Amino acid sequence: MDKLRIVGRKRLTGSVAIGGAKNASLPAMAASLLTNEPVTLTNVPDVWDVGTMRRLLLRLGTHVVQPSLDEITLTTARLASDEAPYELVKTMRASVLILGPLLARNGRARVSLPGGCAIGARPIDEHIRGLEMLGAKVSLEHGVIDAKTEGLFGATIRFGTVSVGGTENLMMASCLARGETILENCAREPEIEDLAELLVRMGASIEGAGTDRIRVHGVDRLHGARHRIVPDRIEAGTYLIAGALMGDDVRITECRPSHLEALTEILDRIGVPLVIGEDSLSVCAADEGLDGVVEVETAPYPGFPTDIQAQLMALLTQARGPSRLSETIFENRFMHTSELARLGARIELRGNQAIVHGPTPLAGTNVMATDLRASACLVLAGLAAEGETLIDRVYHLDRGYEHIEEKMAGLGAEVERFA
Ligand code: UD1
Repeated sequence: MDKLRIVGRKRLTGSVAIGGAKNASLPAMAASLLTNEPVTLTNVPDVWDVGTMRRLLLRLGTHVVQPSLDEITLTTARLASDEAPYELVKTMRASVLILGPLLARNGRARVSLPGGCAIGARPIDEHIRGLEMLGAKVSLEHGVIDAKTEGLFGATIRFGTVSVGGTENLMMASCLARGETILENCAREPEIEDLAELLVRMGASIEGAGTDRIRVHGVDRLHGARHRIVPDRIEAGTYLIAGALMGDDVRITECRPSHLEALTEILDRIGVPLVIGEDSLSVCAADEGLDGVVEVETAPYPGFPTDIQAQLMALLTQARGPSRLSETIFENRFMHTSELARLGARIELRGNQAIVHGPTPLAGTNVMATDLRASACLVLAGLAAEGETLIDRVYHLDRGYEHIEEKMAGLGAEVERFA
């Protein structure tokens, strides 16, 4: 199992280019199942989850061509299978995103109940209820969700919980449903807008993606398309925090700062020197130290992303506290706090709140990554810690961060991977 060795307290300078969003690539890849024509995606990040989705599509009969690391053409002329097997679904919860497209195209889809990050119960009841309202019959047998339909019909569906994957699944399924579908209380993440952009290029009729009400007029068929994946706001946010911790002058390029406002607003408030451009951000560490924040609460977009909560916590260990972080999306997403404590952080956990008493100097030691974003938090803490930090189980990091050690090293960090 690979590990990362980080020698901390190196100043960071230079620029880092952000890749395409993992969380936009996965639904876009699933959407390719809606047509028998080629769908070409560019700016696709070279991360494990994309590889897992590629393997899943191969199992379903998709022909995959990848002329370069960041471009993929997916053609499903004929489906070879309608089942996402457990060995793939268990490593990536987003496999559930094939449910909607497969059902709409093929009338049947089977998906093992998902695994993914160990950050809470993460049910998919909203996906299932919505598909049922579109006319699917869904049963669960031996851990496999089996969805069938004689034909999907448009409906008005109000989500009980704001769900990114749920919104994406129902948006994809309803593209080929007969009549009009109205989705209410939708997630508004930029990745949903990106998916809608691709679907419209494929011939779908969708209005309102990016708002909480999406209207889809079903069409008979979708065709092939070419689409560039939106930049990864979580990757950009992670490098922004690296710059806030150790930057002399770090420039983050090829990103969309407007997708990061919840983070940049907090960084600005605690005293991080930032310059926000059209498609870039410049950041450096504050000479006079940082102030803590009274309260940050994770929330669906445009609120503060749960996927940057762990990374922000690494930064807040270096701010004058106490700072209070509340996690409202996932109930088990504080596993990084005990590892941060091993590096010297003082963090109190009270239910879904973490109170960070900073600033505390961090000192390198052995730590263990527990999930994707927690791993990023440990990399950031390692950059700020005195001496050597060894991070075990970095496969979590590889699920969603493209070449992180090369990108960090490009900024001057001393980061090395070894087996
Ligand atoms: C997506 C992101 C993930 C991010 C999360 C929240 C992808 C591939 N992953 O995950 O990185 O952390 O959004 O921003 O895009 N819920 C239900 N019932 C459902 C579905 C969800 O109760 O049917 C709950 C979940 O348990 C959670 C909340 O709703 O508490 C949000 O989950 P959701 O938005 O669905 O997350 P994902 O789409 O899995």
